[in-house]
Amino acid sequence: MVKLKVAVLVSGRGSNMQAILDATQDPDYPAEIALVVSNIEGAAALDRARDANIKTVTIAHKDFPDRESFDAEVTREIKEAGCALVVLAGFMRLLSEEFCSAWHNQLINIHPSLLPSFKGLDVYQRMIDAGVRFGGCTVHYVRHEMDTGPIIAQAAVPVHPDDDADKFAARILEQEHKIYPLAVKWIAEGRVRVSGEVARVTGAVPAEGALINFQS
Ligand code: GAR
Repeated sequence: MVKLKVAVLVSGRGSNMQAILDATQDPDYPAEIALVVSNIEGAAALDRARDANIKTVTIAHKDFPDRESFDAEVTREIKEAGCALVVLAGFMRLLSEEFCSAWHNQLINIHPSLLPSFKGLDVYQRMIDAGVRFGGCTVHYVRHEMDTGPIIAQAAVPVHPDDDADKFAARILEQEHKIYPLAVKWIAEGRVRVSGEVARVTGAVPAEGALINFQS
């Protein structure tokens, strides 16, 4: 099987990268991580990747005069590694319009809310304060405007009466670790088609225990 080569961009802890890495241990999984790029030196995600013998590179954004030159260097590394899918996994930096165009429909992100609600940062407390009954997480293709783009997968997570931001975040994260490897698998299997800024998934099987609703 020819596997889809994936580059993962990280800034921190790397638990979503780890979830994808764990999925790639299955010989039947159709994708492999060929490169991990961090914009933050010493990010925990880098140690996790090195432990799995994956090539890592740190590209510190502070060493570049502007966003475009930083992004161009990231693109150069991704191309050199031969990757055809770029996965943002807790990559806490906005990407330039050039970068988003260069990787159009080959660039995905996970965000801890049911987009298009609750874009941006500090989403958990904002959801609790708004009194929503469900939060969740979204895997989506990336467009230039922050936290926008065709939705590939979502999982819903109920808010509990005694939730604080940390408890709620932990339960959402569990679902992130299910839907992100699944979305990468669907893409690698060629099941995801984007038309009119809506992504549809054909013939996919949901993750066990995840509350996922299909559009196919
Ligand atoms: C995850 O919860 C991810 O959804 C969020 O950052 C966390 C990274 O955790 N991403 C965003 O908020 C992007 N807008 P991780 O480093 O353990 O994967």
